[in-house]
Amino acid sequence: MDYKGFTEEIKKMCNIDLSNYKEKQMKRRIESLIRRNGHESYDSYLELLKRSKHHLKEFLDYITINVSEFFRNPAQWQVLEREIIPDLLKYKKRLRVWSSACSTGEEPYSLAMIFDKMMIKSRVEIIASDIDRVAIEKAQQGVYTAKGITNIPSAMVKTYFEQEDDKYIIKDHIKNMVNFKILNLLEDNYPTGCDLILCRNVMIYFTEDTKEKLYKKFYDALSDRGVFFVGSTEQIIMPYKYGFSNLKNFFYQKILE
Ligand SMILES: C[S@@+](CC[C@H](N)C(=O)[O-])C[C@H]1O[C@@H](n2cnc3c(N)ncnc32)[C@H](O)[C@@H]1O
Repeated sequence: MDYKGFTEEIKKMCNIDLSNYKEKQMKRRIESLIRRNGHESYDSYLELLKRSKHHLKEFLDYITINVSEFFRNPAQWQVLEREIIPDLLKYKKRLRVWSSACSTGEEPYSLAMIFDKMMIKSRVEIIASDIDRVAIEKAQQGVYTAKGITNIPSAMVKTYFEQEDDKYIIKDHIKNMVNFKILNLLEDNYPTGCDLILCRNVMIYFTEDTKEKLYKKFYDALSDRGVFFVGSTEQIIMPYKYGFSNLKNFFYQKILE
């Protein structure tokens, strides 16, 4: 069996279509995982995945790449807090915000902390989703290490986390602001009427064709003038093609139809 055959079997088994992900990168990662598990062929590794839930979970964890940070690329979060959100609030009474590949929760909790700090939490709804069930479970627990919170100013750590030994636990009033769910960006329906969507550090893994499809889905998920916030290596080459204007670096706005 070759890589293509393997991806077809994975699609049948877990409904994840690896053909949407950049092949070179994904193939290299999977082949290194196969070797790490002492296997040499796609066939024997696939048999392992079929027999062992543990290895299947390891495989899914590995291909989804869950690295995240609070306030990842802090300068962009400052633009969000100081310019984008105040601007949205000028013409929207309530904000529906979606963190669309939220991994272990750092991104939606960064949003929740900002909204609390701005004293507008009663005006916002935060949806946070990811394809990876394990990541979502971790996000819901909201437990982080000292290393995990290094980007957060110490005053905010005091306000928003309980410290227990070497663990930092997000406080309930912040946790309760976020509605977590499992959602596959490639297959599932998107929330609608979103005023702000974050899709950061996941598009880089997708092929150009898949990106195009997803930009259109994100466009449909946004409200008029809604803003789309991308990762620092994920600028959209021709935003107008998808109905977006370039609001600021890394921020795109839905052009009114
Ligand atoms: C590198 S993390 C990015 C986390 C966060 N957005 C950030 O920028 O720090 C990429 C996330 O994308 C998720 N992901 C990968 N493919 C996905 C898909 N098809 N649908 C939804 N999430 C996906 C992974 O599970 C992972 O949690």
